[in-house]
Amino acid sequence: MSKMKYYLTTPVYYTNANIHVGHAYTTVIADAIARYKRLQGFDVCFLTGTDEHGQKVERKAVAAGLSPKVYVDGLVEDIKKIWGLLDVSYDVFIRTTDEHHKEQVQRIFQRLYEQGDIYKSEYQGNYCVDCESFWTERQVVDCKCPDCGRAVQWVTEESYFFKLAKYQERLQQHLDNNPEFIQPLSRRNEMINNFLKPGLSDLCVSRTTHKWGIPVPFDEKHVIYVWLDALSNYITAIGYGSNLKDFERFWPADLHLMGKEIVRFHTIIWPILLLALDLPLPKMVYGHGWLLFGNDKMSKSKGNVVAPRDLVDKYGTDALRYYLLREIPFGSDGNFTEELLVNRLNADLANDLGNLLSRTVAMIEKYFGGEIPVDVIHQPIDAELRAQAQAALGVLEIEMDRLQFNGALTAVMDVVRRANKYIDETAPWVLAREEAQKARLGTVLYNLAETLRICSILLLPFMPHTPQRIWDQLGIGSVEYAELTAWAQAKTFGVLPPGLRVKKGEALFPRVEWEPAKLETESVLEMPLAPEIDISEFGKLDLRVVEVLEAEKVLKADKLLKLTVALGSERRTIVAGIAAHYKPEELVGKFIVVVANLKSAKIRGIESQGMVLAASSGELMSVISPVREGITSGSKVK
Ligand code: MSP
Repeated sequence: MSKMKYYLTTPVYYTNANIHVGHAYTTVIADAIARYKRLQGFDVCFLTGTDEHGQKVERKAVAAGLSPKVYVDGLVEDIKKIWGLLDVSYDVFIRTTDEHHKEQVQRIFQRLYEQGDIYKSEYQGNYCVDCESFWTERQVVDCKCPDCGRAVQWVTEESYFFKLAKYQERLQQHLDNNPEFIQPLSRRNEMINNFLKPGLSDLCVSRTTHKWGIPVPFDEKHVIYVWLDALSNYITAIGYGSNLKDFERFWPADLHLMGKEIVRFHTIIWPILLLALDLPLPKMVYGHGWLLFGNDKMSKSKGNVVAPRDLVDKYGTDALRYYLLREIPFGSDGNFTEELLVNRLNADLANDLGNLLSRTVAMIEKYFGGEIPVDVIHQPIDAELRAQAQAALGVLEIEMDRLQFNGALTAVMDVVRRANKYIDETAPWVLAREEAQKARLGTVLYNLAETLRICSILLLPFMPHTPQRIWDQLGIGSVEYAELTAWAQAKTFGVLPPGLRVKKGEALFPRVEWEPAKLETESVLEMPLAPEIDISEFGKLDLRVVEVLEAEKVLKADKLLKLTVALGSERRTIVAGIAAHYKPEELVGKFIVVVANLKSAKIRGIESQGMVLAASSGELMSVISPVREGITSGSKVK
């Protein structure tokens, strides 16, 4: 019988900044699902990749003095290295700059044009360069992008449009007939109420303002809108238009996984594009929550990113993966802190799992010369442990099918904790005192080793290294015993052959002492603090919130921006050395903190009436803004 297929995808990640732990979150989750499905016997295709076109990338490349291709090549190499460090077992890595992808996107565009779904007109409206998104008047909030909060640009240009509205009814029907299509349910309601109910407008699908993109095949001054290019990756990567056999084997996707902010593109534009191409729709689009950092989304623009590489160096791949999968109920937002990671690592991995293994192996060495004993004398207390261990796979499967990874891992760790309790209950060190109890002692230790074998198999989807390390210590690490570690063997208690030789190894997860210096601020904390001052000295500073009304570069001064700000009803000009960190348009509309009573000074011939406050950490700099909405310009900072 041929295997059932399972096709899952992550978003293709932008190549305009380095990957952070937020991106790693989606990818590690997808990897755990892919590994789990493979273990269950599915023919899995796990796709990830990079989204490399667009104005933002073009600008970044120019700023770095590189051609866009050279620039993205470097970033893609880094991304692949990080996925390597995290043991991401993708089957296909697509780059939107791959020739076969570009060719198919052009063909798709051509086909839609020929069948009358794309037409030429003029676009007038709001555009957010950072999100590469068009927004209607109604969606824009105070001239800002409703997604990222940056200022939108008013653009007028000749453009091609895609007739989204034509397919709205068919999409609505699909949603009605397939309630599980958008997950979780809250996102489905949001899409229906906020986007479908008000009615779809046709979508602008080409740009003439930049060159770094796939040209419209019959009108080369236009490049194809990035989202049309990027979304198509899910079909071009598996052979759409080029390898029918592979394409038909895997399409439709079983699961598109992504963060909640891009569900809109995947549940409106993408299905409509597929309907227009006469292709079946994916089975499920899941928009998970965000990894928050101090209650804010972890993102480059917020300057609060943590690099996965630093965490892997410090804590190891499996510990980081475990934390990402275990800590946050999937679908909801969750806070990322290094302290929580360390707590999880110490409690679950070092204490519960690591100790169970080291105690079991140590006792088998001490009392049985390192040979796993025979289980002969059963007592009622064994039955509970055996039953829980055997049932864990069933619980795990239910949780995995609900995409509740924390539930799945809890099922495994509950067995580990039950086994630790079993040690306390059976007190092997007491049994060891009497020769007559030797056989019972053997049974207890056998049960512990067998429980560890089962738990280690169940950890395979989540932690690629730990199971093998457990098997090495239990003496089943070699190929010879491969059948003992197969997925289905986690269902049966008692298959471990007595007589295997255990071998004590290094601690699975050494305990980590929590040091409050967070990774991303380490370099800052190394800076010595300035000498103490008293409150009256501090009181001399008048710190105020101002609103940036205009911002522009200062001629012939690479580092300087000239800001026009509102301080209550007063207008001021301030020159700030932040041009390397902020584009002028990024600051317009922002509320920031300045020193308002600094003597004015002439900088490059401009009278600067105040000083902008900014925090710097390594390469990164951030102006200081009030976190709460509603703080007005002129407000005092105390
Ligand atoms: N290129 C688009 C996607 C196109 S898919 C056809 C894009 N790229 S991105 O680099 O910005 O990656 C966005 C994805 O990264 C999110 O949808 C999410 O999966 C993941 N995350 C980025 N930051 C995240 C958090 N702070 N928390 C959780 N996931 C995060 O959008």
